[in-house]
Amino acid sequence: MARRRVAVLISGRGSNLLALLKAAVDPSYPAEIVLVVSNRTDAQGLARAQEYGVATTVIDHKNFATREDFDAALTEELRRAEIDLICLAGFMRVLSAEFIANWPDRILNIHPSLLPAFRGLNVQNQALAAGVKISGATVHIVRPALDDGPIIAQAAVPVLPGDDVEKLTARILAAEHKLYPAALALFASKTAVVRGDQVDIAADFQGLSAKALYSFTV
Ligand code: GRF
Repeated sequence: MARRRVAVLISGRGSNLLALLKAAVDPSYPAEIVLVVSNRTDAQGLARAQEYGVATTVIDHKNFATREDFDAALTEELRRAEIDLICLAGFMRVLSAEFIANWPDRILNIHPSLLPAFRGLNVQNQALAAGVKISGATVHIVRPALDDGPIIAQAAVPVLPGDDVEKLTARILAAEHKLYPAALALFASKTAVVRGDQVDIAADFQGLSAKALYSFTV
């Protein structure tokens, strides 16, 4: 199967982008990162993409009167690059329903909680305030409702006594860096397929990524 052409959308640090770039160096990885788009000129992730020889572009949302205008410019750029799949990786913009409709079941997002628990911002704070003993990260298909959509894969991490936001965030982020490449591989290879509001994983799936997906990561 031809490798799927992926664009990664970022707004900042780009550590998940880096994890995807590293995974995609392997020619047998089922996706290649062909474009990185940032809505901010100062996103650190842009330099990471350039180190890997991946094309970058900045579409500054401040130059657009409406969300829809920004999203239309984004779609145009993605179409020009003949993108198959879009990975959101710390992209701090809500996408319009129209944008999402233009890319049906082709947009993936990573979120630092075990959805459907703790949507929105400051989710590690939310997890600590709720006193949960396990948290983690989720890669899901983007649907119009915020932090909603069919779940491709999740990684669980313990919430330990004495944790603060920084410690929990770092533990979850380390899990994210394993989870996102594994989840994209599942989806790009069509081992994971959307059926309605769920993602089915092929029954014969025994890939090594199962370890990253379902085991605890400390
Ligand atoms: C990650 O925690 C991701 O789950 C969330 O935003 C953060 C982005 O970090 N959506 P980075 O830019 O990938 O380092």
